[in-house]
Amino acid sequence: MAVTVVKSVADVRKAVKAARAKGLNIGFVPTMGALHEGHASLVRHSTKECGYTVVSIYVNPTQFGAGEDFDKYPRTLDADTKLVDKAGGSLIFAPTDREMYPNYRGADGTWVDLVGLTKQLEGASRPHHFRGVTTVVTKLFNIVQPDKAYFGQKDFQQCRVIQRMAADLDMPLEVVMCQTVREANGLAMSSRNVYLNPEQRKQALCLSQTLTKARELYARGERNAEKISAAMRELIASHPLARIDYVEIVDHDTLASVAEINESSVAVLAVFVGTTRLIDNGYLK
Ligand code: PAJ
Repeated sequence: MAVTVVKSVADVRKAVKAARAKGLNIGFVPTMGALHEGHASLVRHSTKECGYTVVSIYVNPTQFGAGEDFDKYPRTLDADTKLVDKAGGSLIFAPTDREMYPNYRGADGTWVDLVGLTKQLEGASRPHHFRGVTTVVTKLFNIVQPDKAYFGQKDFQQCRVIQRMAADLDMPLEVVMCQTVREANGLAMSSRNVYLNPEQRKQALCLSQTLTKARELYARGERNAEKISAAMRELIASHPLARIDYVEIVDHDTLASVAEINESSVAVLAVFVGTTRLIDNGYLK
């Protein structure tokens, strides 16, 4: 196998330094593991553009709320290593909590907190989620020091938050948003899809179907956001196992709800299917 797995910050720095000495540029794909084709596409995007690709695999406790799925989140390092290897990744960083947060004591520590963009949508349902994400991603950026970092549109708000954070804090890297990879039936790939039983998996298709519906209405000339989101809600409501957390049409820069739709509008939604919370999104244009 060509990919190397390391567990310490010191080993990442050593490997990245050696790659730089060879004149290679550094691509970075942060993940929580349980990798699938969506993650593989990010790794391939990076290997196409960068000579050396680092993938982090770390289920970050600080972005999970009380009662969320931190404990049951799937951990599959052996399969993940094979997938990264096949996609052409160079180095996997799989740290322990002690390696990532040696000095933190509960809430006592340094946090990166973006005000704005983080309180709505995912932030409304998951209050400390983005503070955990921006803090761990900052730490990972400082450890790896990549030229480019790759994020999926699947987590649209997360990607916009990271792009804004990198700009605000003058981080010397480019944050690239990559397309959502879907199953043939339209279901957005997610590490959490393994929680779904066969019937729930069928009903989970309502997320991507609502996006198709929204795009159809837009293509037919509808520009009223409330009308389109009402049609999306109606479609989801016809699935007995699905329960809406939010369905909104927002501007891609501000993430604020829009009344009138234009080419910068994105439909975003979070839906519980059984007890599993799934998200999806798409531009309407
Ligand atoms: P995770 O959920 O493992 O996702 C890692 C990256 O893979 C994210 O950028 C996510 O948007 C992308 N991804 C997931 N499913 C995808 C799909 N179907 N198509 C394309 N990309 C997809 O997001 C996280 O981990 C964490 O919050 C992290 C950024 C690693 C910080 O802990």
